[in-house]
Amino acid sequence: MQTREKLLELLEAHRGAYLSGETIARILSLSRSAIWKAVKALQNEGYAIAAVNNKGYCLLEQNDIISAQGIQKYLRPQLAGLDITVLPTVSSTNTFLRERAGSGAPEGCIVLANEQTKGRGRMGRNFFSPPETGIYMSLLLRPGNCMAEQALQITTMAAAAMCEAIDSVSDTEEQAQIKWVNDIYLHEKKVCGILTEGSFSLENGMLEYAVLGLGINIYPPKQHFPAELKPLAGTLFQLQKNDVKNRLAAEFLNRFYDYYARFACSDYIEEYRRRCFVIGKQVLLQSARQTKSAVVLDIDDRCRLLVRYEDGTEEACSSGEIRIKGEKVYSDCLYR
Ligand code: BTN
Repeated sequence: MQTREKLLELLEAHRGAYLSGETIARILSLSRSAIWKAVKALQNEGYAIAAVNNKGYCLLEQNDIISAQGIQKYLRPQLAGLDITVLPTVSSTNTFLRERAGSGAPEGCIVLANEQTKGRGRMGRNFFSPPETGIYMSLLLRPGNCMAEQALQITTMAAAAMCEAIDSVSDTEEQAQIKWVNDIYLHEKKVCGILTEGSFSLENGMLEYAVLGLGINIYPPKQHFPAELKPLAGTLFQLQKNDVKNRLAAEFLNRFYDYYARFACSDYIEEYRRRCFVIGKQVLLQSARQTKSAVVLDIDDRCRLLVRYEDGTEEACSSGEIRIKGEKVYSDCLYR
């Protein structure tokens, strides 16, 4: 670990408390001047670190900058082995991680970025990913023995875990909800999108790896949402919170890997179904081929959407997108 990372880990572990230069020097086996340089470097990155004579250094509570060290602090011990990389900017964390997956990177690799310049959404859309106000995160998964159709479960598992994580950090009574299949809403606005991409073996149709990507709008973007997103895109918070990005990322990972470890057990489906606000609604179901009017009957145990069309026929859908009938603006204008 570099000096910067070691120092950040120590300061994170004592967030809000002063550590003398001498104590830091002793714990990290570094010179006082090396510490001073590393403090300066962190301050230049935007960290609020107080430096007070006779007291030492203190990472102030108010910081809300995402870092591997900040996330690790909140992870349950079983997840200590996750390999977390945080980049200041990247084209897309999914693209970045798919490249690493292609060169053999193992399960457990996670990439986050403070900004994406070419964030990608479902159905070839862009995902608006401005700096500092969101979390853009991708996880590399190699579940083994997973058929193509089961890949849907990775997305739905992640949606259930993200809703729980949002509720655990949010300051509202209202619970996060799911619009099948991959959109998370709070206060009737989309606050998180999920894009799962996979590579399949042509020999046996098994999933070789999946890259699970999540984009969460934490705060209003500094330049505001583009006009076409404004009616539907929301944020978790309006005002700056203390250390919420690291907490949210870790709360998600804690919950997601818990569900993932019990992949076959499918216990997340109850949670998913409970939060899914489209059940019973009249929708337009859009697939690659057509758009059809239907009523949503339920979500089945494979997370497929059970619908009844106007002609009375029923179907279990494992792909496609829905628009709620009667919505002023349909959600497919989002993230175009
Ligand atoms: C959607 O709403 O259509 C899905 C959006 C998924 C966005 C996330 S942000 C992290 C990861 N990297 C990407 O380029 N996309 C996903």
